[in-house]
Amino acid sequence: MKRLGVGLIGSGFMGKCHAQAFRAAPTFFALPREPALELLADIDAKTAQKAARALGFARSTGEWKTLVADPAVEVVSITTPTALHKPMALAALAAGKHVWCEKPVAASAADAREMAEAARKARAVTVVGFNYLRHPLIRLAREMVASGEIGEVIGFRGVHLEDYMADPKTPWVFRFDPAGGHGALSDIGSHILSVARHLAGEIAEVSGQLVTAIARRPAARGSAKTRAVEVDDQARALLRFASGATGSIEASWIAWGRKLTLAFELTGSKGTILLDFERMNELQIFTAGQRRGRAGFKTILAGPDHPPYGSFTPAPGHHIGFNDLKTIEAKMLIEAIAGGPPAWPDFEDAWHIQQAIDAIALSARERRWVRTSDL
Ligand SMILES: NC(=O)c1ccc[n+]([C@@H]2O[C@H](COP(=O)([O-])OP(=O)(O)OC[C@H]3O[C@@H](n4cnc5c(N)ncnc54)[C@H](O)[C@@H]3O)[C@@H](O)[C@H]2O)c1
Repeated sequence: MKRLGVGLIGSGFMGKCHAQAFRAAPTFFALPREPALELLADIDAKTAQKAARALGFARSTGEWKTLVADPAVEVVSITTPTALHKPMALAALAAGKHVWCEKPVAASAADAREMAEAARKARAVTVVGFNYLRHPLIRLAREMVASGEIGEVIGFRGVHLEDYMADPKTPWVFRFDPAGGHGALSDIGSHILSVARHLAGEIAEVSGQLVTAIARRPAARGSAKTRAVEVDDQARALLRFASGATGSIEASWIAWGRKLTLAFELTGSKGTILLDFERMNELQIFTAGQRRGRAGFKTILAGPDHPPYGSFTPAPGHHIGFNDLKTIEAKMLIEAIAGGPPAWPDFEDAWHIQQAIDAIALSARERRWVRTSDL
């Protein structure tokens, strides 16, 4: 089978996920190309060498520009801090590579648009790491909407709540850097907005509110010196979808006790769908017209009837997890590169998500409704 040369930039949380996904994908799926972990780049040569050994890459470099120019690399995974996505993606596309980039795709809608245009011109396959959209139960929810099981979609109420920044002693890291965009709004708001758009359609207009609850953070772990925080800890927005449906989202990285409350309620004219990623293998559905006194939500547990769950395990209720979502993402990328169905969400989709993000921030700043198409 023809090999697919993989280059990975960054070897932190997401870098490890991309590496394991490339390794795992051919063990769970029959793929048209065999990923070969060719080259890993990180901030310096020593970090890159150590990570390459741990993650199974053949070679390493401390200079990402060397990686994007390498002839053995056909697809570049970008898992670095968000401010670096654009220069790295544009360089990779200019060098004729396909790109798998982490979310949020860029710091701004203008940057995301530039990246989408470059991808279109290069005719490259691009995928952005909105991994939650890969879940078989999100696929089921979308099928339920398409088949009319809950009628016409009227409302979407979604949250993404975590607590990784709730402790004021948590030091300043790249996620607070305005060069990478907004705060919780970009980091996790992007995920819930991707789900909203996937299930309820394009977001047309927003009214936003941003809150910075912890104004200063230690400049580094354990440091007495502090640094001002300029980005949001909490973001909220009312949404109006192009379809006429309405809704809301909230994103917070200071929500004590919440670990992955990426949860939504999709209300239709004939029923409601609920999903919370802290229990990501359980979808709940209520349909109108049930017998009085017996009506209630039904819980559907993920199983092999919900593709591609069955590629991982034949046993229902045994759960698939976060890393499996990344493996599904890698499968889609590899198939698209080999000429299979188009991969999504691509840079174009990520640009539209970024328009909603920037529109929420502008709306919060100017205290008015903002159309996403204005960004
Ligand atoms: N899809 C998801 O669910 C998800 C989850 C977490 C993070 N992310 C996204 O992934 C990206 C990275 O986040 P993370 O949590 O993995 O961060 P991280 O800090 O764990 O890893 C970042 C990596 O980039 C490397 N790096 C930094 N500057 C570099 C440079 N100039 N050249 C080469 N390498 C460099 C770092 O050394 C590190 O290995 C962010 O955009 C983030 O929003 C996505």
